[in-house]
Amino acid sequence: MEERILTQSFTQEDASEYSLRPRWLSEYIGQQKIKEELKIYIEAAKMRKEPLDHVLLYGPPGLGKTTLATVISNEMGVGIKITSGPAIEKSGDLAAILTNLQENDILFIDEIHRLNRSVEEILYPAMEDFELDIVIGKGPSARSIRLSLPRFTLIGATTRAALMTSPLRDRFGVINRLDYYSVEELKEIIKRSANILNIGIDEDAALEIAKRSRGTPRIANRLLKRVRDFAQVRGNGYIDFKTSKEALDVLGVDEMGLEYIDRKILVSIIEKFGGGPVGIDAIAASIGEDGDTIEDVYEPYLLQIGFLNRTPRGRVVTKLAYDYLKYPYIEQGRIEGV
Ligand code: ADE
Repeated sequence: MEERILTQSFTQEDASEYSLRPRWLSEYIGQQKIKEELKIYIEAAKMRKEPLDHVLLYGPPGLGKTTLATVISNEMGVGIKITSGPAIEKSGDLAAILTNLQENDILFIDEIHRLNRSVEEILYPAMEDFELDIVIGKGPSARSIRLSLPRFTLIGATTRAALMTSPLRDRFGVINRLDYYSVEELKEIIKRSANILNIGIDEDAALEIAKRSRGTPRIANRLLKRVRDFAQVRGNGYIDFKTSKEALDVLGVDEMGLEYIDRKILVSIIEKFGGGPVGIDAIAASIGEDGDTIEDVYEPYLLQIGFLNRTPRGRVVTKLAYDYLKYPYIEQGRIEGV
């Protein structure tokens, strides 16, 4: 896949910027309701000297699910082991991870909807009773033994809660959806990051970057770094409004945070499918992108800003998007009468 500045996936560069991630709830900007809830659960669990109940975090990529898991581990004062659904291939892999946990530790499983079924089944008794069922041997002489595990907290993260099986979902005591951040929250995040990275930035420049970050801190931090590069090469490194605007225009990120692929999706629905309704597979085929990627990465933001609607018959581009892209809008049902 081509390198995209707005990619919501975690890149090498993001990994090198651990310092930008908040470590405590007090440093974490946005997701107010989740923070307030977690604060209470964390305090109560600490008072009881028990592990926190299992937590499921879901929502679009880049909104801070992993960050929140590490914040929870810091606040609880416990260790955290980070892994992901596809990385745990066999039930033995999960057994090894679980038996190596310390009492009250957190196990974070990203993309938990991608766990395979045999692994998932090991997880049920582990989550519920902190027990591990292991089968030794094969055939008639096979027998099952039960091991006690340390009490732990599972934090699961997923972009696709609907793809999780209900027995797994039902075993989480706390289920939270992360929402897109407001422009104001992103502006605060950008100012905080600029401060940590020693970048001088004007208020209106931070606001301009925030507006184009499609509600996503990971994108905001990445755009900040790209704009800094411009400011360094073209000026003295300080980011004022003019520099930020010029840099973002060169990066192909428009005023709404849309980039080439987003516009291609919308334009293709308008030009090839009369604005919809059209199924995701037809859209995917027409622009040569993967359907799952469209559904996971691009579509949520287009739905969020009201440029796209999901209907039982497929996706429909809204009047708002027509106006924004400067296409004439013909209202549904009026076409024949015109
Ligand atoms: N950096 C990335 N996400 C953040 C957040 N939610 N709060 C503060 N800094 C961040």
